Amino acid sequence: MGKIVTVHSFRGGTGKSNLTANLATYAAMKGRNIGVMDTDIQSPGLHVLFGLGGERFKYTLNDYLRKKCTIEKATIDHTKAMRLKAGNLHIIPASLNADDISTIIREGYEVADLRQGFKQIMQAKQLDYLFIDTHPGLDQETLLSIATTDLLFVIMRLDQQDFLGTAITLALARKLGVPSTYIVCNKVPGIYDFDKVKKDIEQEYGFEVATVVPLFTRLIELGSRQILVQVSPSHLFAQNIDQLFKRCEVTLNNSVKR
Ligand SMILES: Nc1ncnc2c1ncn2[C@@H]1O[C@H](COP(=O)(O)OP(=O)(O)OP(=O)(O)O)[C@@H](O)[C@H]1O
Ligand SMILES: [Mg+2]
Repeated sequence: MGKIVTVHSFRGGTGKSNLTANLATYAAMKGRNIGVMDTDIQSPGLHVLFGLGGERFKYTLNDYLRKKCTIEKATIDHTKAMRLKAGNLHIIPASLNADDISTIIREGYEVADLRQGFKQIMQAKQLDYLFIDTHPGLDQETLLSIATTDLLFVIMRLDQQDFLGTAITLALARKLGVPSTYIVCNKVPGIYDFDKVKKDIEQEYGFEVATVVPLFTRLIELGSRQILVQVSPSHLFAQNIDQLFKRCEVTLNNSVKR
């Protein structure tokens, strides 16, 4: 049985979608069978990073949650399109259509169906990992993802608003008994001592920092148009993603499935 890895931050724009898409791609490049789901139904965008921004999907996560299709129908096998030589990559996008978004917000859906969707797609595609990109803050999709996940990465920047928000997410992770939680500090300007940043955050929150990611001009230039670890595998960013991947492998191969 595969494992669920959720990427969350209390504040918006911390880099969740970019980190999730890169980690999912990297894991697939390492031969893993991967699913990556956009549970940010209010402001979706994960699929844009995979070059699918202009695509009109027949089905999305929204259709599954509104009981119009199976979760498999809302899943895109992107392995060939990405020319992956080793693993597989399956994307479950959320709809970027204004009507779809407003309908699901207005009419809601059965939260249990989302949990069921995680399980079904993991089984149907025999996934090693299902990576979940979330909406910032705490909404029902995020609460469910955190309650269900095997591993949680909490993304933060060196910003006072992020500090306070991160404390809330971490308190929730403790309360919900997430088996493994790690902090990722992203967009750190080069003027900082990265080892000190890691130590200070760990001391403050009592959770391990999985990696400290520099503020990379290249990521800003790419502007969520491509997956940096794939287009430039030798870029320093790949080392950060490798640390996250190894964290998943080491932690989850040893942990007991709930
Ligand atoms: N380490 C980094 N260095 C520079 N820019 C980065 C870095 N990480 C992410 N970015 C940029 O920050 C912007 C926001 O990233 P992204 O969309 O991944 O964040 P998010 O947390 O998913 O946002 P939202 O909360 O709106 O879903 C993007 O333009 C992305 O390229
Ligand atoms: Mg996002």
